[in-house]
Amino acid sequence: MPVPFMEVSAMSGGDKLDFEIRPNPQPVAPAERDALMANPGFGRVFTDHMVTVRYAEGKGWYDARVEARAPIPMDPASAVLHYAQEIFEGLKAYHAADGSVTMFRPDANAARFADSARRMAMPPLPQQVFLDSLRHLIEIDRAWLPTTEEGSLYLRPFMFANEVFLGVRPSNEYLYVLIGSPVGSYFPRGVQPVNVWVSPTYTRAAPGGTGEAKCGGNYAASLAAQAEAMEHGCEQVVFLDAVQRRYVDELGGMNVFYVYDDGSLVTPPLGGTILPGITRESVMTLARQAGRTVVERPVAFDEWQADAASGRLREVFACGTAAVITPIGVVRHPDGEFRIADGSPGEVTTGLRQSLVDLQRGRAEDVNDWIHHIR
Ligand code: PLP
Ligand code: COI
Repeated sequence: MPVPFMEVSAMSGGDKLDFEIRPNPQPVAPAERDALMANPGFGRVFTDHMVTVRYAEGKGWYDARVEARAPIPMDPASAVLHYAQEIFEGLKAYHAADGSVTMFRPDANAARFADSARRMAMPPLPQQVFLDSLRHLIEIDRAWLPTTEEGSLYLRPFMFANEVFLGVRPSNEYLYVLIGSPVGSYFPRGVQPVNVWVSPTYTRAAPGGTGEAKCGGNYAASLAAQAEAMEHGCEQVVFLDAVQRRYVDELGGMNVFYVYDDGSLVTPPLGGTILPGITRESVMTLARQAGRTVVERPVAFDEWQADAASGRLREVFACGTAAVITPIGVVRHPDGEFRIADGSPGEVTTGLRQSLVDLQRGRAEDVNDWIHHIR
């Protein structure tokens, strides 16, 4: 259960820190930066700075810095290297129509980061420190913000156990780090429909496990399934539930939505094994505000197949920070494959994507107060 924010700050010794700013004495030269940003792909190009904040038991959060991006020296016995006590977040900053920089629902990322921390027996980072770290990095690395329609600055906050100790218990020391990466589309083919592979072999998360936390271990465990998907010509893996191996949970790095012939949307309920996606929640709100019915209910794989065959199921899409909203064209599984409608992007998927992107880039009225502007 989420803990109220007051309790978070009480636990972590103060909810605001002063950041020491040490500008990088050797930033990338403008011409080289432009060349790197011309076609950045996803997660390969990085900005000049990073933010670090330390935690020690009994001392709380301290030593908040903005400094040159650099390797992190680590002792070989650092706890994270052995027991994977690590969590992360992903969100984007956008070049907005009015020249400001926008962030989409960073407070929701801060809250999820704190929830992930609690699940992994880590101290939650105060929400204000999380938000201030984002603002400081964007301000100092603003030149790295892509101005293209597909481009954004992907922000990757993460935190790990760095006590030098091999016993199996929660670490007494942690390092929070924020890095930034100018990105284009997550999928190399852009907004084209992707193929997905329904894994017969692997599951992602069991009840009582860590499925709803954004911890690195969940992704490590998903890589064999992702490799299996790629061997079958698919961009993403679909995970079925770990108990009955019947109901759709989510994809390797995205949540999933179904659009039916009556215009309604269905998405699997959270229930502890699925990452509570911020895009998922935003899509549900936007669709409802546009007058659509949105239902959270389990979707069985055989139902997915039958409804695609009958034509009742019109569109399926994946959503997440990296993927935005990406249509799913073909579904492969060990017994064959099927297509969603004619396999091309559907009108509801395309419309929702446009509404979301317009909001994120400050082009639509922000009735939900989701956008943070940095001027
Ligand atoms: N599910 C998984 C496993 C993810 O890694 C992500 C991406 O962060 C999502 C869903 C979508 O979450 P969000 O919309 O908050 O980015
Ligand atoms: C994100 O969307 O931010 C993620 O962390 C998922 C991953 C596919 C990059």
